[in-house]
Amino acid sequence: MTARVRVLVLSSCIALGGCSIDVMQPRGEGAASVAQLVWIFTIIGAIIWLLVVGVLVIALGQRRARLRLDPLPSQPVGERLATAIVAVCVLLTGIIVTGLTILSYTTGKSLAAIGEQAELTVDIKAQQWWWEVTYQDPTPSRILTTADEIHIPVGRPVRFRLTSTDVIHSFWVPRLSGKEDLIPNQTNEIAIRADRPGVYRAPCAEFCGLQHAHMAMDVVAQAEDEFQSWRDAQLKPAATPGEPEAQHGELVFATRGCAMCHTIRGTSAGGRVGPDLTHVASRRMVAAGTLPMSRGSLAAWIRNPQGIKPGTNMPEVDLSPDELNAVVSYLVTLK
Ligand code: CUA
Repeated sequence: MTARVRVLVLSSCIALGGCSIDVMQPRGEGAASVAQLVWIFTIIGAIIWLLVVGVLVIALGQRRARLRLDPLPSQPVGERLATAIVAVCVLLTGIIVTGLTILSYTTGKSLAAIGEQAELTVDIKAQQWWWEVTYQDPTPSRILTTADEIHIPVGRPVRFRLTSTDVIHSFWVPRLSGKEDLIPNQTNEIAIRADRPGVYRAPCAEFCGLQHAHMAMDVVAQAEDEFQSWRDAQLKPAATPGEPEAQHGELVFATRGCAMCHTIRGTSAGGRVGPDLTHVASRRMVAAGTLPMSRGSLAAWIRNPQGIKPGTNMPEVDLSPDELNAVVSYLVTLK
């Protein structure tokens, strides 16, 4: 297919279906199967549509010409031909629908097969409007809980077990795989294998309330050794702050309400309502993919969470400017 045709088909697809261009640039086995299926359906659908419109145009032209001659012509030969054409069309429709159904089924099977080879299991618990991520391990001390960012090793299938604590959300990494819903009191599974390193955005794909658009994650696919060192670093408790301002921030965090909702392993903060912040500064984004990680974003988020994500469960804590500065200075040490 030439580049021009590809662009044309793609832009029609985006205009008609609102689908993301990411889907058509797969970087993982699952997404590649889905993209292939989308191409086949789009091309066959386009050919059929063009044929139908073409036949319609011809038929309209002929009808007008014929009506002028004889309003009720008797054409036994023509009718036999029409019957044959309709029969062939019905047969072709049956063949095409059956073919596409089989193709869709085999793609589903190949997606499921990725999960069968998975050795790494990650649990994702969605809630309005963030993601709790738990890396399972046979050794209990190596079970890791983090939030709003997933790291996976390139080339290795990873099994995700999905659930929700409130409403239905949907887990979707367009460039790596298809979608799977996160439903309260139910565990769904999806497996993903990234074929190339990179950072892939995973937006929540099911409307889940006011801040649905501000519920995303970054999926970081990296080489096996980088992934292992990330995991080892994340397993460590939080570093003790060295600077006096950050030390003051740790105290403010523990005493002014933050610790009621957030855990920072290695400190007295053990709340489970909000995201684990043990290594919050190592993440790329703040507030579930809403702001890029920086001092400014952290300060803005803590100062006015309702201004950034109206409706969020993160309350506005009444901190003095000095206390806010101290807390931010502490959080940025949590790499
Ligand atoms: Cu969670 Cu949309």
